[in-house]
Amino acid sequence: MTLLSTALDTASPDYTAHRTAMLAKLDELAAEHAKALAGGGEKYTERHRKRGKLLARERIELLVDPDTPFLELSPLAAWGSDYPVGASMVTGIGFVEGVECLITANDPTVRGGASNPWTLKKAFRAHEIGHANRLPSIHLVESGGADLPSQKEIFIPGGALFKHLTQSSAAGIPTVAVVFGNSTAGGAYVPGMCDHVIMVKERAKVFLGGPPLVKMATGEESGDEELGGAEMHARTSGLADYLAADEHDALRQARRVVSRLNWRKAYENPPPAEPPKYDEGELLGIVPGDLKIPFDPREVIARIVDGSDFDEFKPLYGTSLATGWASLHGYPVGVLANAQGVLFSAESQKAAQFIQLANQRDIPLLFLHNTTGYMVGKEYEQGGIIKHGAMMINAVSNSRVPHLSVLMGASYGAGHYGMCGRAYDPRFLFAWPSAKSAVMGPQQLAGVLSIVARQSAAAKGLPYDDKAAEADAALRAMVEQQIESESLPMFLSGRLYDDGVIDPRDTRTVLGLCLSVIHNAPYEGARGGFGVFRM
Ligand code: COA
Repeated sequence: MTLLSTALDTASPDYTAHRTAMLAKLDELAAEHAKALAGGGEKYTERHRKRGKLLARERIELLVDPDTPFLELSPLAAWGSDYPVGASMVTGIGFVEGVECLITANDPTVRGGASNPWTLKKAFRAHEIGHANRLPSIHLVESGGADLPSQKEIFIPGGALFKHLTQSSAAGIPTVAVVFGNSTAGGAYVPGMCDHVIMVKERAKVFLGGPPLVKMATGEESGDEELGGAEMHARTSGLADYLAADEHDALRQARRVVSRLNWRKAYENPPPAEPPKYDEGELLGIVPGDLKIPFDPREVIARIVDGSDFDEFKPLYGTSLATGWASLHGYPVGVLANAQGVLFSAESQKAAQFIQLANQRDIPLLFLHNTTGYMVGKEYEQGGIIKHGAMMINAVSNSRVPHLSVLMGASYGAGHYGMCGRAYDPRFLFAWPSAKSAVMGPQQLAGVLSIVARQSAAAKGLPYDDKAAEADAALRAMVEQQIESESLPMFLSGRLYDDGVIDPRDTRTVLGLCLSVIHNAPYEGARGGFGVFRM
């Protein structure tokens, strides 16, 4: 009865064009991901290997259970900034001895693994995810501490890193540090704050000040090992709980520590679920290259939910937003998906009601974005679009069930907020390569700027002659280009406005992993506690 049908014609020219455009964007994405994988580049990678050390991702691979997925987070952090893509750190969620753990690993091939402003943002986001979902965390440490030239951006806010570790510990969420190399000055507080500490013999260096600093401060002569070597910390200071013979041994010991955490998820895993009836590969051909052309999000839902079974709520009302119940990898979800781009009053009220229902039933919500925002114009303002949009934003803000967001296409204006954009704290937010997000579309924004500039010139009594028109056209083109580039997923991902840009074909798997992660922590929907709904 509630099985979705499909109208997608995989033999049509439209499908082929959409698919070709999406594959081209995926190629661009792969090239950027390759930069993150390359870390500090060949020279530093080679040097690192010659020292007999494993790379950050190799350490993670040896830490997690064989043949299990690793959900990497924020791989494009720092994209478009002055710092290397990836932000000198790898973060993600992996299974260790069957336990879903948050894992962070410094990349010592990028400026000695030093933390720059984007590393900090990436680490903070990882901690936030770990804390919200009650994931034990494992920190694979080898870092030159603060990236000294950017210290003004990181020294003061960076202190929160240590606060987060101890707050996790206080909340009963285990923290494990494995020290492979340098972990000095502020970095020494990573092992200092963790519940469990493993250090690699003759490699770990954990001190507040190295030999030159000690000499400067007190005149004392000292060496690395006696100041902060693994043996010293294991035998004398007691900072290290376990001494590892080498890197492999350290990772083995980390797995042993996790196996003894006696960690239990808040909820049992659901039994294996039925896959969608339609091919997930077809998700490549749904979103048009030109986002002005609408597409039916039910075609997407049909390819990500269990058995393509979607029980639509209010299908005849507020039809520009599809809402309904489904399950994904066995977890119940309420789905809100933009169907025709614009959100009107009816859609907003329907969303608010749907979100309340999900809260009454303790069902997580999935937001699938393709919206140009709330409808503007005389008729709509007079019809109360602001108060109805506010109603939806109120419901999203005060909802207490976990939220997941996927930006498939447009995510503009307050529509981004109502659909649980980044500032509304979805547990996870991913974007497809086809996504675009900004305060409004580039053409509209450039047009608005131009009208405002002309009105301002007219108010000053300046003429709008040919020369002014030419300057106006040039400005519009420039602004349009700038906004276009700032709306693209790689730019937004670089700024940590999402948790990653994913291949549409991986959506079901990624959301399934997220739902599994979410069910580590108990949650309860809001039974009341919403703000005043303006009727
Ligand atoms: N800030 C900025 N750049 C740093 C850095 C830091 N904290 N640590 C290292 N780098 C840079 C180096 O200048 C070098 O750049 P270059 O290759 O362009 O010359 C590159 O990263 C690699 O460093 P290098 O010293 O060659 O690597 P290493 O593996 O032999 O040693 C460290 C790594 C971390 C042990 C060493 O660089 C070091 O002691 N750094 C300073 C640590 C420190 O005191 N930090 C302040 C803590 S708050």
